[in-house]
Amino acid sequence: MNNSSNAAKGINMEDWGTFSGQPVFLYTLTNSHGDEVKITNYGGTVTSWITKDKEGNKSNIVLGFDSLSGYLTPPPYFGATIGRYGNRIAGAQFTLDGHSYRLAANNGPNHLHGGLKGFDKVVWTADSVDPTNPRLTLQYLSKDGEEGYPGNLSTTVTFTLSDANELTIDYTATTDKATPVNLTNHSYFNLTGDASRTILDHSLQIDADRYTPVDSTLIPTGELAPVKGTPFDFTAPHKIGERIASVPGGYDHNFVLNKGGRDGARVALLSDPLSGRSLAVYTTEPGLQFYSGNFLDGTLTNRDGKKIQQHAALCLETQHFPDSPNQPSFPSTILKPGETYHTTTKYKVSLEK
Ligand code: GLA
Repeated sequence: MNNSSNAAKGINMEDWGTFSGQPVFLYTLTNSHGDEVKITNYGGTVTSWITKDKEGNKSNIVLGFDSLSGYLTPPPYFGATIGRYGNRIAGAQFTLDGHSYRLAANNGPNHLHGGLKGFDKVVWTADSVDPTNPRLTLQYLSKDGEEGYPGNLSTTVTFTLSDANELTIDYTATTDKATPVNLTNHSYFNLTGDASRTILDHSLQIDADRYTPVDSTLIPTGELAPVKGTPFDFTAPHKIGERIASVPGGYDHNFVLNKGGRDGARVALLSDPLSGRSLAVYTTEPGLQFYSGNFLDGTLTNRDGKKIQQHAALCLETQHFPDSPNQPSFPSTILKPGETYHTTTKYKVSLEK
């Protein structure tokens, strides 16, 4: 909860400590209605999104902490920019142009979210800001061989908060050797603004007729299976809790977006009857990982001092499909020298009238 801020539209910067000798800052982006998103250059992390509910009360709709220390005992990627490869790579290896690359196996036998020190655990460099414009651009150079990946990858992520309460995240990257790239944001949403409630009463609609079924280690089998007749059918809105008991472990699946890769179309709509808030997701990506906070287990404490229990929040991670470097039938994630990686995802918060 935070009812304090009535700052003017723009961006404000404050010191947030240091990490490995590098200065860390917290940036507050405020729109003309007083909606406020906070982002730190540590991990390119969205720490907070404060917005009104239907009664006009402001609260925070993402999990996070109010100081850097919360992020240094790494939480499971709260709000972070994920790279070089979001989601899993099977057996922590892939072959590209005849070379075999070994990555850290940091999730059972598999590689998850870029490895031991992914883009969520490094300090990004912020461009200078225009104080009147709620926009922040962060840059990170991932060196050739970092976490086992080939090529110097130069990455830029720009966050913009609009007056319509849209947080747009724009990713670009270039490389000097062919490499897999799959960047996303790992915000955990609870639209009630109260992380002591679960998200099981939130309704979700996803514009996906198919999903990628997974094995017991959450690696896609390669099949694009129809959602029809399964608990994965969110083509019409369903409460998340309605069918979750029939999904072993809970939802942690990639949906094959019907309009994926085209025009930044709206691909998902999350809504919470209690607060009246809804969150629409727009993306140029072909996939969406819906993760229902299954591994949250009460060991972490949110900024409000409450324990973060299972299903306290959910993620809607726009992405290319998991394990694409080992799945030739999936859309390619290989970026080559001379090409520019460019994807855009927008999260828009609205209130029901
Ligand atoms: C992603 C994965 C999940 C889990 C979370 C972090 O969403 O798909 O399985 O690893 O990140 O806990």
